[in-house]
Amino acid sequence: MIDECLYNDFDRKDHLAFASKAVHGALGCDPCTGSVSFPIYQSATFKHKTFGVGTGFYYTRLENPTRQELERTMAILEGGLEAFAFTSGQAANMALFGMLKKGDHVLLSDDIYGGTFRICDTIFTPLGIEFTYVDMSELDEVKAAIRPETKMFFIETPTNPMMKVADIAELSKIAKANGALTVVDNTFMTPYFQKPIELGADIVVHSATKYIGGHNDVVAGMAIVTTKEQAEHFTMQIKSRGNGLGPFESWLLLRGLKTLPLRMDKHHQNSLKVANWLRTQPKVKKVYYVGFEDHKDYAVTMKQTTGFSGMISFELDSFESAKKMLSDVKMVLFAESLGGVETLLTYPLTQTHESTPPDVREKLGINDRFLRISIGIEDADDIIADLDQALNG
Ligand SMILES: Cc1ncc(COP(=O)(O)O)c(C=O)c1O
Repeated sequence: MIDECLYNDFDRKDHLAFASKAVHGALGCDPCTGSVSFPIYQSATFKHKTFGVGTGFYYTRLENPTRQELERTMAILEGGLEAFAFTSGQAANMALFGMLKKGDHVLLSDDIYGGTFRICDTIFTPLGIEFTYVDMSELDEVKAAIRPETKMFFIETPTNPMMKVADIAELSKIAKANGALTVVDNTFMTPYFQKPIELGADIVVHSATKYIGGHNDVVAGMAIVTTKEQAEHFTMQIKSRGNGLGPFESWLLLRGLKTLPLRMDKHHQNSLKVANWLRTQPKVKKVYYVGFEDHKDYAVTMKQTTGFSGMISFELDSFESAKKMLSDVKMVLFAESLGGVETLLTYPLTQTHESTPPDVREKLGINDRFLRISIGIEDADDIIADLDQALNG
């Protein structure tokens, strides 16, 4: 039985710290049964109490209690008004760009995730929307690219895979002054380390497949909004496109969120150790990591984040070294994706950034010697030992 009133009243838990909010969510326990683990409401439809009286839940494409608990929890954690859970990060971004109209112009980070580029290039450009890619860590480049019809800044920070950092507060001010929305893809940092809405952003998106889920076992996306108008847009996207996240996947994310702070702290500690070790290796020509004090944007990182997360990119001395490392890792897994408990080594050229135009890849430095690693929560010394034998053995 679902009682609408019981499900409507939830506490945003403003008095609690982030870790407590992550554990206790919105409703936390199921209000009807007291189930401590919020139930997976695996039902497509919901029985009406009587003619004209429903429970507040009618049909899972539109709303489902498990998805609702996840969405409310994410809204609380990101400090937004409402949140929306999608079947993938791509689906969340598709819904986001659905806000745009013919003639609108968008500024995006120049080395965004290849799939985001693909959405803009293959789906929205043919609809008459224009996209300009700029180095968002250079405010003057951003200002120079603004046009009267610029409606949105889409910021990925740190960028994937070059780890450039954009100043969210400054960019939000510039966007606002020009009548544009600021959207931040917060996949790499999560709200535990970085809160774009507090810094002035209007909308936050995630590939929740990554750190939010955290266990490489679910594909999902999130959009967190700050106004009723934006909420109506995303509600209609889920209702009409049918791209809302299912109950089981929503539950997996709720479970992942409970340990988000613990995992993120461990990703941070491990990545610091691994990044510093990589720097000492003769075959490693350059390491891209936001936690290095000599990173060009270190001051911005220290201003807007409370941790470095677990992402590192690096360039090796030769294609042969890259091939050997990818082939010879044992505990570390050669696989796409990031943000899970397992350490994953990725080859952006043919995996995550295959859709990025070759000239852009070349300019950014995504070549056949370039690798990206998502540091997991294993023992840091085991990660280093495995990378060492794969690189030097
Ligand atoms: C930063 C970023 N945003 C969005 C996406 C797309 O998310 P998904 O793979 O969940 O569709 C990815 C995927 O790798 C990503 O890395």
